[in-house]
Amino acid sequence: MQGLRGIISFEGIEGSGKTTQARLLAGYLRDRGYDVLETAEPGGTRIGEKIRRLLLEPQNHMEPLAELLLYYSSRAQLVKEVIEPAIRRGTVVITDRFTDSTVAYQGYARGIDLRIINTLNEIVVPGIRPSLTFLLDIDVKEGLRRNRHARKEDRFELEAVEFHNRVRRGFLDIAGREPERVKVIDASRTPAEVGLEIRKIMEGLSWRSGR
Ligand code: TMP
Repeated sequence: MQGLRGIISFEGIEGSGKTTQARLLAGYLRDRGYDVLETAEPGGTRIGEKIRRLLLEPQNHMEPLAELLLYYSSRAQLVKEVIEPAIRRGTVVITDRFTDSTVAYQGYARGIDLRIINTLNEIVVPGIRPSLTFLLDIDVKEGLRRNRHARKEDRFELEAVEFHNRVRRGFLDIAGREPERVKVIDASRTPAEVGLEIRKIMEGLSWRSGR
């Protein structure tokens, strides 16, 4: 793991356990002496948290394009205020969701043209992409069942199973296109088992070769 740097993102559908795994990996890396910054999207800044509330309130009907631009507003703030400074000082950034979520949710699930999303990426996060992404993959019904247990019911959790199936397909397509960056993890197992696999992958990667 020598030379570890940049952004590590966690992606997946609702209930896939990415928040838990992001926290576990951050702790593991800190124990090994790394300076780690944990963040989450949407949010991660004062303005971003306000945008997050707007995005997730169940009663809001929102136009897909309005939704897309709010995600990018939150991201623009997070990148300038938090991520870029962290990367400049050599801190490893672990983020719970990043641009792949937009491709999966707003692109694949809401049907917004992926070229629009790519263009926004070029504007808002030029040259900034995760060096490594863990895609925690889980059956949609199982993920939603887990979340109901946790009593999470925001605007996205209330979407139909079909919507989440499209999100999952989107994530898997991204992983298929970028197998070097995106590691697909079977998230149906216990958090301890999933965490172990993630640590093994981390240990096995070479961080010197431009990753
Ligand atoms: P969370 O539940 O992981 O905190 O994420 C909040 C919701 O926002 C989740 O349903 C996924 C959704 N989302 C998008 O639709 N597009 C995005 O770009 C991001 C970052 C999240």
